[in-house]
Amino acid sequence: MPAINKQKKLYIKTYGCQMNVYDSERMADLLKPLGFIITESPEEADMVILNTCHIREKASEKVYSELGRIREYKEERKLKNQNMVIAVAGCTAQAEGEEILKRANYVDVIVGPQSYHRLPQILAEIERKTSQEKGAGRGILEIDFPLESKFDFLPEVTDIEGVTSFLSIQEGCDKFCHFCVVPYTRGAEYSRPVEDIFEEACRLVGKGIREITLLGQNVNAYHGTFSNSPEEGWSLGKLIRYLSNIPELQRIRYVTSHPVDVNQDQINAHQDIEKLMPYLHLPIQSGSDRILKLMNRKHTAAYYLEIIEKLRSARPDIAFSSDFIVGYPGETDKDFEDTLKLIENVNFASAFSFKYSPRPGTPASMLDDQVSEEVKTERLTRLQELLFKQQLAFNQSLVGKRISVLFEKTGRHPGQLMGRSPYLQSVYAEASTRLIGQCVDIVITKASQNSLTGTIVIQEKIAV
Ligand code: SAH
Ligand code: SF4
Ligand code: F3S
Repeated sequence: MPAINKQKKLYIKTYGCQMNVYDSERMADLLKPLGFIITESPEEADMVILNTCHIREKASEKVYSELGRIREYKEERKLKNQNMVIAVAGCTAQAEGEEILKRANYVDVIVGPQSYHRLPQILAEIERKTSQEKGAGRGILEIDFPLESKFDFLPEVTDIEGVTSFLSIQEGCDKFCHFCVVPYTRGAEYSRPVEDIFEEACRLVGKGIREITLLGQNVNAYHGTFSNSPEEGWSLGKLIRYLSNIPELQRIRYVTSHPVDVNQDQINAHQDIEKLMPYLHLPIQSGSDRILKLMNRKHTAAYYLEIIEKLRSARPDIAFSSDFIVGYPGETDKDFEDTLKLIENVNFASAFSFKYSPRPGTPASMLDDQVSEEVKTERLTRLQELLFKQQLAFNQSLVGKRISVLFEKTGRHPGQLMGRSPYLQSVYAEASTRLIGQCVDIVITKASQNSLTGTIVIQEKIAV
């Protein structure tokens, strides 16, 4: 029997952002025709992929400890005369591929975020090397930014489960914030063609997906085209408007937006597209103009507040979330107080906050005035106290209100379902499983920092 028909097991571990989650699914789709089915147990895998994240030091260090564990499984399999191909993919692979091969010489493949569509050819090469050289030899390094787009080589989305899905529409970044590795690991900004996105969205909806989250490192910098009118760039707002015409698609979200790229089309979309959820993740990082300038963010705190105002005028119930970095090199107490002031000013529904982590090769890592770990910890604690307080207050403000919830799966308790509010909170309510995949009105009865609980509104019969 040719090897291609033999069923093989694939274990994928994903770190980092939603883009990596999307990429992991695409890698599984790509390897499926070679006979690979997903396993949750790395010890029985014929192939292991670690899809890594490089954003902060802690994230990228994880890969080495995980590789140590995987190596033991590989050794155990060897004793049973079974092989295991170990691949490291994602942003750490892109940034530190050579080093990984040096530190972990049992790794077979390093593949970057823009070159993983070549995995089938790489596997064929490994098989050839193994049979010819009695041992795989040195690992294969595939971290070029190819001229071709990986999207043109990826198979159709196949394994579609559940009610919600990610859809990558834009990748890469040309912004070069001074703290960030993404422009180096994901490469230059690229927008997928409109018709490819539309087709993928239709396929997802056809398989039962009811909510799509459009993904991009700078999703609102989207400027793709329709191939029959290549001169006309589409904005994110226009794309969302187009996708909202898919009848069974009930909800659209997008992440992550950059403040500088917010435009009128995006604001208008929030005003008049009902399927677009009233929630915006808009990272600002710091509330101090001095630090924003040092970070190369290209806007001020006042500009950010102006955008928030415009969006609130367009869609009064819109909820905001953001990312913050504390302890950026040179951040003084006054700069930090400015960040707290901005947070007080905006009132966020949720937020992510991090201690600044110096990343090799980025301009900020070379600055002299690094902030001590102690000060970073203290500032992060204060910042998070304020953010958590706002998050709880936002959740509590919904108690007694009636909101639409898209049910996604069964909840923690028997008879309970879990869904999401328009503002992305988890909502738990007693409901029949046949409501999974439907938007149902719920009255919120209880709120905690991380979730809401409610009861189904019995739909009144409307007399006609
Ligand atoms: N493209 C998005 C964010 C991508 S990275 C944007 O422009 O906002 C996700 C978040 O990780 C960033 O918003 C930032 O808050 C955080 N981050 C990035 N680099 C970091 C670093 N070196 N140290 C700490 N946090 C960092
Ligand atoms: Fe990183 Fe800045 Fe690009 Fe976001 S905009 S990915 S923070 S460089
Ligand atoms: Fe991490 Fe790369 Fe995403 S560095 S956050 S996996 S773009």
